Amino acid sequence: MDVLELLEIESEVSLPKRYSTLSVEEMEARVNEIKAHFGDRLFIPGHHYQKDEVIQFADARGDSLKLAQICQTKPNAEYIVFCGVHFMAETADMLTNPNQKVILPDLRAGCSMADMADIEQTEIGWTKMQEIWGDTILPLTYVNSTAAIKGFVGKNGGACVTSGNAKKMLEWAFTQKERILFLPDQHLGRNTAFDIGIPLEQMAVYAPLTGEFEYEGEWEDVKVILWKGHCSVHEKFNVQHIQNLRKQQPEMNIIVHPECTYDVVQASDYAGSTNYIIETIKNAPAGSKWAIGTEMNLVNRIIDEHPDKEIVSLNPFMCPCLTMNRIDLPHLLWSLEKLEQGEVVNHITVPADITKNAVLSLERMLERS
Ligand code: 13P
Ligand code: SF4
Repeated sequence: MDVLELLEIESEVSLPKRYSTLSVEEMEARVNEIKAHFGDRLFIPGHHYQKDEVIQFADARGDSLKLAQICQTKPNAEYIVFCGVHFMAETADMLTNPNQKVILPDLRAGCSMADMADIEQTEIGWTKMQEIWGDTILPLTYVNSTAAIKGFVGKNGGACVTSGNAKKMLEWAFTQKERILFLPDQHLGRNTAFDIGIPLEQMAVYAPLTGEFEYEGEWEDVKVILWKGHCSVHEKFNVQHIQNLRKQQPEMNIIVHPECTYDVVQASDYAGSTNYIIETIKNAPAGSKWAIGTEMNLVNRIIDEHPDKEIVSLNPFMCPCLTMNRIDLPHLLWSLEKLEQGEVVNHITVPADITKNAVLSLERMLERS
């Protein structure tokens, strides 16, 4: 491969230097211009964790569930420029028509939790679980997982869940099989299972890196097998934060995302999806006080939108989700300008054989949501 070819590839995957010389106003004006040019042929969904500089251009904003649902209602959108992370763009690709193209403005916008379950590890773990429990397990996967994991789950009769419907889906899953394997977030799995009445003693943890189970009871008693994955953003909230706050400001309401640990969720007043957090605070009386345990871009936006309420982050030194933050105004503009020039960059496509089974797991969730 010669230097020119290398340079060409480089310019396809990384942001051309020109974008660092444009002012914010120039970039915003160009995005608006391109949006107006494409009209309904372009749809921009944005997750609540996206930066303000990006979310202002979203045609719809939402939690993972809402964004999955809304993409299905936009058949005229030839281009879906997804402002979120990779697994969300994959989901959008699988739920839309083959002629619709899903674009992720920066391919580095992954999700560290989704990366904690790969398909090889899952197949190995599943074989071990079948040896112990036989055909008694239904797999469920949080949507924060790769398309391959969704495909595995779909092939084995299971479904996807989001933080907005995890309880309902877990209850459904127990009507299908005696035991559940919950991938890849142990915390959402544990919090939800506890919520529907499964005691902690009946939950085993499977550690994919060692191939071992963390469990001390009888195999027969296990009801839920939790994949040992987590969200590095939500693990930054701890019980000490809650205790400090309760001591200093006992009137504060504490609301957290269920990707937080079991101890944090138990010590909080409320727990739910990003949408649940937004709605709860929106509907709270003026003057009420809130500490929020979720990603920082969203917390800052909620603070700005509710000057009549006292709102803080549960962890005062909280950082945003770094991968969500990869989608910034320059990358958004770059992907849109490329579209304007007739070029699709960062096109997210899931192979047909994976899509076939993964869609089963998504549809089983969507028809129950
Ligand atoms: P929800 O928007 O479904 O609550 O999920 C949060 C999240 O971590 C997405 O990555
Ligand atoms: Fe993944 Fe956590 Fe970021 Fe959500 S907040 S995208 S789960 S790393």
